[in-house]
Amino acid sequence: MSSYRVAIIPGDGVGIEVATEAAKTLQTVADKHGFRVEMENFNWGCDYYLKNGVIMPARALDILQEFNAIFLGCIGDANKVPDHISLTLLLAIRKGFDQYINLRPIKLYPGVESPVKTATPETVDMVVIRENTEGEYSAAGGFFKLGSPDAFAIQTGIFTQKGCERAIRYAFELARKRKKFGDKAPVGMVTNCTKSNALNYSMVFWDSVYKKVAAEYPDVKTDVALVDALTMWFVKNPEYFDVIVASNLFGDIITDLGAMLQGGMGFAAGGNINPENIYPSMFEPIHGSAPKYAGKAIVNPIAAIESIRMMLDHLGEEQAALDIQKAVVKTLTLGKVKTADMGGTSKTHEMGDVIRKAISGK
Ligand code: IPM
Ligand code: MN
Repeated sequence: MSSYRVAIIPGDGVGIEVATEAAKTLQTVADKHGFRVEMENFNWGCDYYLKNGVIMPARALDILQEFNAIFLGCIGDANKVPDHISLTLLLAIRKGFDQYINLRPIKLYPGVESPVKTATPETVDMVVIRENTEGEYSAAGGFFKLGSPDAFAIQTGIFTQKGCERAIRYAFELARKRKKFGDKAPVGMVTNCTKSNALNYSMVFWDSVYKKVAAEYPDVKTDVALVDALTMWFVKNPEYFDVIVASNLFGDIITDLGAMLQGGMGFAAGGNINPENIYPSMFEPIHGSAPKYAGKAIVNPIAAIESIRMMLDHLGEEQAALDIQKAVVKTLTLGKVKTADMGGTSKTHEMGDVIRKAISGK
């Protein structure tokens, strides 16, 4: 019997509610598919910081290293701890575990309404591959002459050959696997999200790596869009896109727009992946911790449940992952249970319960 150890970090705000639904759903599919999961909760986050002066223990990565995968609810509550401190938890795990791919599927499920008119289940089916460990998030820089009229700040993006190449290569491999255009070449397309007209070093370098990698994938269509124009195309012609590869910051920005295409933040899940499995990968809903909704059981748990689906896919439990997706689609298509973001009154746990019932048949 396969067995997995999963670390659960519920985090702050609504993270606790959605983590509960994620964990319960993981248990339901494990029971159905006959594998074991051993989950352990870690109460790291803003309350932990207020008590201990750190957002997670110094040994956090050593502790997490023993797990097969990590689920993160959401982190941050600016009323308790400034965001640039609390979010070091997320960024330290991404970097420390070399989770260099941020995988963000953008798919609109039937029964879900997007605020974007052009978005329908037929038109929205794409994946953003976001470089996740360097680029604009390299944390290189400093403050100078603070407190004087000459004060200034420097924030430097670092783009390495290896860092760009492995993200771009992952995108091409994924397009090859997805085969959005069918079996005959081109089987898919990788859109290079860039801004080399203005960022004349970093993005020109990024483009050159894209070109080099693309040459190794003659069966996959190449495509390029400047990040500003790409936001326009996402809205105007979402059906055009297959796989998009973007730097850390650009990927961050365009995936919030992507979340709207897929019906809102309540549906958007992401994986922070270390493809070599040297370190555990981490899966999370991409929404924030929404402290004002905390404890009210009104947020949509689907993004968290979808993160579990992605985790299972990564762990090689594809059937279990598919089962979650089928149950989510069934629940949404029936449309009886709708959380507040969908215009309904169902509670977080009611949505979770219905999805689990669709999985187990009980
Ligand atoms: C995300 C978030 C994070 C990011 C923040 C919370 C640091 O917006 O995962 O998209 O910018 O990567
Ligand atoms: Mn973001």
